[in-house]
Amino acid sequence: MLTIKNARITFNAGTVNERKALDKINLSFARGSFTTVIGSNGAGKSTLLNAISGAYALDSGHIFLDGEEITEKPEHFRARIIGRLFQDPLKGTAPNMTIEENLALAYGRGTRRGLSIGIRKADGVFFKEALSRLGLGLEDRLKSKVGLLSGGQRQALTLLMATIVPPKLLLLDEHTAALDPQTAAQVMRITGEFVRENNITTIMVTHNIDDALHTGDSTIVLSNGRLVLTLEGVERESMTVERLMKVYSAAANDSFGDSMLL
Ligand SMILES: Nc1ncnc2c1ncn2[C@@H]1O[C@H](COP(=O)(O)OP(=O)(O)OP(=O)(O)O)[C@@H](O)[C@H]1O
Ligand SMILES: [Mg+2]
Repeated sequence: MLTIKNARITFNAGTVNERKALDKINLSFARGSFTTVIGSNGAGKSTLLNAISGAYALDSGHIFLDGEEITEKPEHFRARIIGRLFQDPLKGTAPNMTIEENLALAYGRGTRRGLSIGIRKADGVFFKEALSRLGLGLEDRLKSKVGLLSGGQRQALTLLMATIVPPKLLLLDEHTAALDPQTAAQVMRITGEFVRENNITTIMVTHNIDDALHTGDSTIVLSNGRLVLTLEGVERESMTVERLMKVYSAAANDSFGDSMLL
């Protein structure tokens, strides 16, 4: 269970560029829940994930993960229990290392077995099986350098690395936005499968409202650093993209703008 209490982050405080990126955010995410996050550019979505992962410190407020307060814990501490994917497929993998070596690193992070002891044969078989799940033919390319992969292949590999040892929390920040529609759909499908199979608590930021409403089990809407809407259950199931835009406008006195659309 992840709980965020009265979280605030203000950038450039006291200047003309002052920006409340998180404005008294209170949120609770049950273990195994899958929440999607939407909101216009600058709404505070990435800041929320950065605050959870420890990349940004809160100005005030608290963050608890499974009963432990992590507000003051450094980013590298949280990285051991929180998996993260960004929009940029080049982040998250080491281009000069092979697929196998990248997976071994990710696997070692969770099992405390480093790359130094080498890749055991059993691990190789395990990696091959895991890669075949992606449906991208990467299982036959264990010795290929990751830098040679396409963006979509790399993002799928990053997803596998982030979940090969299931984290307590998975943070996805527009992780399919840079991929072509077909690959994006493929990576989204794999995301749903990995998350469900391992019961990983997941928070996914997206600009694709359709994905947001049809992936996971609840959707939250941010605007100007504030939580303006939470959708779950029947209300979410019956929500259409058009209606959501109207509800959002009423709630935030704002509009999504073109950037919210596919
Ligand atoms: N490191 C930073 N320094 C200064 N301002 C920042 C920083 N990070 C974010 N901001 C500002 O905080 C606000 C929220 O930014 P954030 O990146 O969280 O938005 P977002 O909802 O992820 O938007 P997008 O959809 O464009 O990714 C913006 O006004 C942004 O300019
Ligand atoms: Mg963002």
